Amino acid sequence: MCPVLSKMSKQKTVFVTGGTGYIGSHCIVDLLNEGYEVITIDNLTNSRSGALRRVEEITGKKVTFYQCDLLDGETVHKIFAKHKIDYVIHFAAMKAVGESMQFPLIYYKNNVIGTINLIEAMKANNVYQMVFSSSCTVYGDPEHLPITEDHPTGAVTNVYGRTKYLIEEMLKDLSRAEEKWNIIALRYFNPVGAHPSGRLGEDPTKNFTNLMPYIGQVAIGKKPNLTIFGSDYDTPDGTGVRDYIHVMDLASGHVSALTKLDQEHLKFKPLNLGLGHGISVLEFVKEFERLTKVHIPYEFAGRRIGDVATLVCDGSRGMKELKWQPTRSFQVMCKYRCSQLFSIHPFISGFHLYWDCLALI
Ligand SMILES: NC(=O)c1ccc[n+]([C@@H]2O[C@H](COP(=O)([O-])OP(=O)(O)OC[C@H]3O[C@@H](n4cnc5c(N)ncnc54)[C@H](O)[C@@H]3O)[C@@H](O)[C@H]2O)c1
Repeated sequence: MCPVLSKMSKQKTVFVTGGTGYIGSHCIVDLLNEGYEVITIDNLTNSRSGALRRVEEITGKKVTFYQCDLLDGETVHKIFAKHKIDYVIHFAAMKAVGESMQFPLIYYKNNVIGTINLIEAMKANNVYQMVFSSSCTVYGDPEHLPITEDHPTGAVTNVYGRTKYLIEEMLKDLSRAEEKWNIIALRYFNPVGAHPSGRLGEDPTKNFTNLMPYIGQVAIGKKPNLTIFGSDYDTPDGTGVRDYIHVMDLASGHVSALTKLDQEHLKFKPLNLGLGHGISVLEFVKEFERLTKVHIPYEFAGRRIGDVATLVCDGSRGMKELKWQPTRSFQVMCKYRCSQLFSIHPFISGFHLYWDCLALI
């Protein structure tokens, strides 16, 4: 067969929910670069459609976008019926731990009912392959470290995490009840960093407390200082310890997960995506200062409800099963060109930094 035709016949279509969001947009770059066609929906509650324009500029390829809420099941069905979809990657969710404790019903409705609507549309259109964005929060306050996939889940410390746990349980039940389902739940640890072009990054429309963008805002003087929540945790320096993973490594993990779904019938399989290397908030700040030569003033505040001391994974199963290897170190996640440090990126309003993470390594 002519090589062009053979390539075309292999092109598969991925339906991505939450595709204008932080992780979704970076993942779409990888999907397009790997030759997948992408249909994406987002309700733009925590992102902007401009992210997809930049994805198209970076890749030179088109993305089909619908502004659509997963709670609008009828429209989701119509979109599914219009396209021939092979896989779903389900990123769309509300994700702020603190907000979820204040507005639990909104979180249960958005995340759990939204997923039920998606599953119904998939079933109605004979689509059974799915990668679900889960989270290390399903492990709660871990009983032992590093956390493997066999660690018990469910003793979750916040509402956001409980929505992820409930969805995992629902997907597990579904895969037990109906043989056709083939689902990988990727339990992310802490995604940070941005596309090396500096054209994409973490650009939320809501207030955020994630460490990396927060430090970025202090670095450029948009915030006077960093508030560190909790200085009395049972960790070497008293601040929370997390396992950071570069968002582009996370993105390539999803592409590997689609390949895995093609090769094996897994029913439901949870896999950790993390490096297995714990970094405290204070270590993070010091490393950032060392790399950028910018002083980050900080103050301590009490612990936040729902936070835990340490979340560090054993990521070896995910790497082995997905034949995937994260390649960006913590230094790469923090590093960007000092000469561009204070450049105001014309497109990334929330972040205002060129995260030129790879260029120097
Ligand atoms: N960023 C993290 O630290 C982290 C860690 C673990 C897991 N996750 C999970 O990864 C996924 C992506 O996270 P992110 O950091 O890219 O968040 P994000 O907020 O940047 O992206 C999520 C997107 O989903 C959209 N969305 C929310 N509810 C929707 C709905 N009902 N219908 C349609 N669109 C909707 C939002 O507008 C947003 O663009 C989420 O499921 C999140 O829970 C994120």
